[in-house]
Order: sequence, then structure tokens, then C-alpha cells
Amino acid sequence: MPKFYLTTPIYYPSGKFHIGTAYTTTLADTIKKYKQARGYDVYLLTGMDEHGQKIQQVAEKEGKTPQEHVDLMAEEAKKLWKLMEIDYDDFIRTTQPRHEKVVEEIFDRLMEQGDIYLSEYEGWYCMPCETYFTETQLVDGKCPECGREVKKMKEESYFFNMKKYANRLIEFYNQNPNFILPESRKNELFNNFLKPGLEDLCVSRTSFDWGVKVRKDPKHVVYVWLDALTNYITALGYLSEDDTLLKKYWPADLHLVGKDIIRFHGLYWPIFLMALGLPLPKQIYAHGFIMMKDGKMSKSKGNVIYPEPLIERYGLDAFKYFILREMSYSQDGTFTPEAFVERFNFDLCNDLGNLLNRTIGMINKYFGGEIKEYNQNVSSLDKEVENFSNGVIHEVEGCFDTYHISQAISETWNLVSRTNKYIDETMPWVLYKEEKLEELQSTMYHLVENLRRIAILISPYMVHTSKKMLDQLNIPNELRTWDSLSKYDQIKNLKVTDKPEVLFARLDQEQEIEIIKTMMK
Ligand code: MSP
Repeated sequence: MPKFYLTTPIYYPSGKFHIGTAYTTTLADTIKKYKQARGYDVYLLTGMDEHGQKIQQVAEKEGKTPQEHVDLMAEEAKKLWKLMEIDYDDFIRTTQPRHEKVVEEIFDRLMEQGDIYLSEYEGWYCMPCETYFTETQLVDGKCPECGREVKKMKEESYFFNMKKYANRLIEFYNQNPNFILPESRKNELFNNFLKPGLEDLCVSRTSFDWGVKVRKDPKHVVYVWLDALTNYITALGYLSEDDTLLKKYWPADLHLVGKDIIRFHGLYWPIFLMALGLPLPKQIYAHGFIMMKDGKMSKSKGNVIYPEPLIERYGLDAFKYFILREMSYSQDGTFTPEAFVERFNFDLCNDLGNLLNRTIGMINKYFGGEIKEYNQNVSSLDKEVENFSNGVIHEVEGCFDTYHISQAISETWNLVSRTNKYIDETMPWVLYKEEKLEELQSTMYHLVENLRRIAILISPYMVHTSKKMLDQLNIPNELRTWDSLSKYDQIKNLKVTDKPEVLFARLDQEQEIEIIKTMMK
């Protein structure tokens, strides 16, 4: 079985996770489920990035020790992933001994090798981003990443000799043009950082102590990004007694990250790995941000939306459908209550739900619920619908394989629309009236086949809806697999349910928009 090692970023437990954080994880879980359906042995790693000054400060504010704070947050995170049915294989926390021990050792090694050296750092420090900037990087004297105040700071620091590896990284980029996805992000990294020349990176701090201490110089703690990035290998047992997972799964097939952290993953992480003599990950995909009407989500604007109330009211499948569909491959997506309700009512309730309901209703009415078998002597319209459906499968697979998930969804909905249109074109009620039963049976067959295929195509992100559809149609298990998508003539003597259930109940638009607005905090 081919393997597929997939990771999410490890999240900062500085506050409750909102739909943006949930997005990265949903995307990862969807890719995992797709890859599994395609026969891969998938290992999905997620976790939490628990060190750093910001966490220390948040804990202090709450009157807790940092450890108490992160312990609580880890429970919260796991609760959320359970609610969202995220099928992760391991949850790494950077405060776990299995991680800290290895980070200490990695730092030691890199020092011994001469990749890390002691010097002094002076620069503009942004506390929330835990990053130093040079004078020229500041925007209007503020942090170029979050726009907040920066402070001039000077400290004795360890540095990583990035310059030593920069050319090797450039070469690697040239030899692996699909290393960073989307291409626009790769070009940004290449032109803005690699071309002008990489600066050495400051990899220790003395201004706080909530972190992994440098063994040979414990007044320093390891820079949070060096600590955090290594989670992808410590979780597999790097430098520990049992490194079976490392041998099996490294290098990662895909690191999923948001666009804000591609710099760390696309530049520093590969160089750390080169220094450790480990193979580089195969791909890193940086997605965009979920934005609100008035820009970024922020508590001060009161526009933060969390997954729990949405899932509770509209169901997990509708939630995942929305966030995955709204976020295109290389751009930001937007969350608005209006769009959420609209997609629920149109895409899910009208287009998909009604298609299933009408089909089951007609089969019951015209044929006592029975579909006999595929008929060769079909009309040209039937053939056209079958071919269209074949084309969609091909497109959807292509999109999933290249992580164009939103596009995979819209391709699938093209099939939903085409199938709805097919009902209008064939007018089954007329065929029935005119007693053209052979034609009518073939129409019903094609409707069921398309619905079966749609149910399988949505299964990586709408697990429950997929199952409900297949159950109501009574599709046998062997025709529920991804492989069975290529078949179109295997259904025989099927008896659909005589008690169809509504998949998505129509929402009162105005009322629901108001309700969603009250969920924003
Ligand atoms: N701890 C680091 C990651 C270390 S990985 C070795 C971190 N954590 S984070 O909690 O701030 O962000 C985690 C992920 O959530 C990032 O991929 C980030 O891009 C993503 N998102 C945060 N807000 C988001 C949106 N509004 N929309 C989509 N994704 C967003 O960075």
C-alpha cells in the first residue's frame, strides 16, 4: 500500500479555535479521507504549539501556569476535533517530553556542527508574532505581518547559518517546481527571500523562559519556530528509541499550512532538514484565509465565528461543505451569514436534497421502488448524461489529486445540476402518462447511478450525507467504494426506500441570517 504522510500546522493555544483554524484541519481530514478511498495508507498528524512568550502571557492573565493553560486548551482542541470527526492519527504537543528531549538534542547537534553560532541580535520585535523585523521590513513603523506596535530589542542570541544552505535550497526549488503550492506563493518566497539572499535566523531567546532550554546555555530558550517545525519528525520518533514511524512515513507527502506561515515552512524548515541530513518534504500547500465582510476575524471587531454553534445548528456536513467550497485554491474565502444560508438552501437543500427526494419518490410511484438493470438500448440523452458523469469523475479526481478541493466540490455540483436538468429534459411524468415504461425505467436507472456517484464523490467531506444517500437508495456495499465509480452498469434489482428522508430542511433565510449574526463574537 502506498503511504501518505499528511500534517496540519500545530496550533497556538492562545485562544479558542475559530473557523479559520478549523478550516486547515477540515482540509487535512478531507484529503486524508480521499487518499484512503484511493488506497493509500495515510498518517495524519496534528497538534499544538505550546511554547513561547505569548502563551506565557495569556496564561498569566488567566491566573494559571502556562502548563495548566495549555493542558486545558489541548482538551478543548481534542473536543473540537471529535465534534468535527477529524480522523487524526497523532496529536503532538510541544510540551511533551518526547518532543522537548529531541528538540534539545537537535539544537545541540546543530551547534556542534557549527550551523548554530552565538551572536547578538538587535531589531524590532513583534510580541504577538514572536518575530524580529529589520527597520526596512516595518510598515509605517509597525509589524508588517499583524500591523501592531513593535519594540526595539537587543539580546544575545544564537543564530542559524541560513546562508550556508541558501544555494542548495534554490537548487532544490529549481529541481522541484511543485514543491510549494500554489505557484504564486512559491514565486513570492523565491523572489522576496531567496533571490535577495537569506539572512541568518535568530534561533534562541533570553527574554522569557516558557520554552525548551538550550542544554549547554540554559538562559536561552529555543526559538519557537525551530521548536515547532520539528514536531513533524519528533512525532514519528526521530532520535528516539522507536523510530519505526519515521522510517515508514518520512518524508512528509504534504504539509498543509496557511499562507501566513509558508515562509517558515518553505524556507527554514527545508534548511533545518538539510542540516540534519534528512530528506525534504515532497510538497507544501499554503491555503488562503477565511475572511469576514470587514476583513480579518478579530475579537476586537467582534466578528469571530466559531465552528461549534454552526455545527450544532446546521450539521457537520453543511459546515464542512461551506468552508471548503468558499475557499478557492489560491485565494482567500469569505464567510458571510448570507452566503452560508444561501448555499445551504440552494446547493444542499434544493439541488442535492431535492434531487434525491424526487428520484426516490418517482421510483416508488412508477415502479414500486424497483430498478431492474442497466439498459443498453438507451436514448442519446441517456448516453449523454452517462458520459457527462464520467467526465465529472475524471475532473473531480484531478482536483482532489492537486488539492483543488473547492473546485472538486463545484465539479461535483455540476453533476448535481446536470442530473436535475436531465429530469426536466426527460419529463418522467410524461413518459409515465404515455406508458413509455422502458424509457422511464432507463431514466430512473440513470438518476440512481448519478446519485450513487455523487454520494461517493462527496464522501471525503460529507460523510453522513453520503451514507444517508446510499442507504436510502439501498446501494450494496461493493458499489459504495471509490473504485466502483468507474462502473455504470452494475446495479441490479435495486429496491429504494419507500420512506425517503429529507437531507437538508430548508431554512428561513432572514431568520437564520440573524441567528448566525448572533453567533459572531
Ligand atoms: N503555531 C503556528 C504553526 C506552527 S506549525 C509548525 C501557527 N499557529 S496558529 O494557530 O496561529 O495558526 C495555525 C493555522 O491556522 C495556520 O495555518 C493559519 O494559517 C491558520 N489560520 C488562522 N486563521 C485563519 C483564517 N482566518 N483562515 C484560514 N486559516 C487560518 O501559526
